[in-house]
Amino acid sequence: LGPSMATEYIFHKGVLFPIMNYSPETLSFVENEFQVRDDHVFNVTYPKSGTNWMLEILSLIRYGGDPSWVCSVLNWKRAPWMESQTGLEAALKYLPPRLLTSYLPIQLFPKSWHHSKEKVKIIYTLRCPKDLLVSLYHFSHFMHVYKLSSSIDVFLEDFLSGNMPYGSWFNHVTGWMRLKGNENFFSITYEELQQHPQDSVWRICHFLGKELSEEQVATVVENASFQSMKGNKMSSFSLLQDKYIDHKKGNFLRKGICGDWKNHLSEVQTGFLHSAVPGAIRLNVCGGWAPT
Ligand code: A3P
Repeated sequence: LGPSMATEYIFHKGVLFPIMNYSPETLSFVENEFQVRDDHVFNVTYPKSGTNWMLEILSLIRYGGDPSWVCSVLNWKRAPWMESQTGLEAALKYLPPRLLTSYLPIQLFPKSWHHSKEKVKIIYTLRCPKDLLVSLYHFSHFMHVYKLSSSIDVFLEDFLSGNMPYGSWFNHVTGWMRLKGNENFFSITYEELQQHPQDSVWRICHFLGKELSEEQVATVVENASFQSMKGNKMSSFSLLQDKYIDHKKGNFLRKGICGDWKNHLSEVQTGFLHSAVPGAIRLNVCGGWAPT
């Protein structure tokens, strides 16, 4: 790992996790003993793919667009990250209907899920790796779980080699996307959420079996918008403890746009990234993404 690493990590089954909120015991418990229930809904992503945006949409769909819940309960309590130490405690106490978040690669996901596959719903959000990398790079400057890189070049090298907290993006996406076509697996891209917000929310509702009116869907979109989330301290991470984040250096809700990579990545860097992304995945994100 890079010399500028300030955070300590554990390697759990070949995947890097920041020690401050993960332990081998918790990760093993989640994989082998955590009981997935039929009424669980999982919000699964690789970090920076739109996890919190989806969390907000799912929270709002639950109450037909009414923002009372998202304005009164912290997002990480509404849909706890089940594999983290604090998240697991919350996940175990959580009353139905249970909404959980996870960054786990598929091979570390609870084994009990295999028995509930017919009922348990998983929503997987992907993001174009160019924008994801840029978002992650900025994130590493203010979130202590990431090691700081001297440059975006070094960061890109780590990203390409999979030497990142929560493991390789490439393995994460290819692993989860193997479930595409499965009735209880729904995948959507950050780009679709941006370009077709109403339609995206309709599709999510349909997948969850939730009937919302046109007006309610519009309210979900509005209350989950970048500006609404930025203005809501329950969703903006402004209340996250200083041990995790340096609030002076950056903001979780940074830009919230597609295409910021153009301001940060060179043609050579995107070329490296392009050749590393499997074709099938490229078809799902960035509209096919040609090499240049
Ligand atoms: P940027 O850093 O590109 O701005 P995650 O929630 O997985 O950590 O992803 C964070 C990224 O999603 C950040 O991207 C953040 O700004 C963006 N994001 C969060 N909420 C959003 C929203 N409502 N609309 C658009 N982008 C959003």
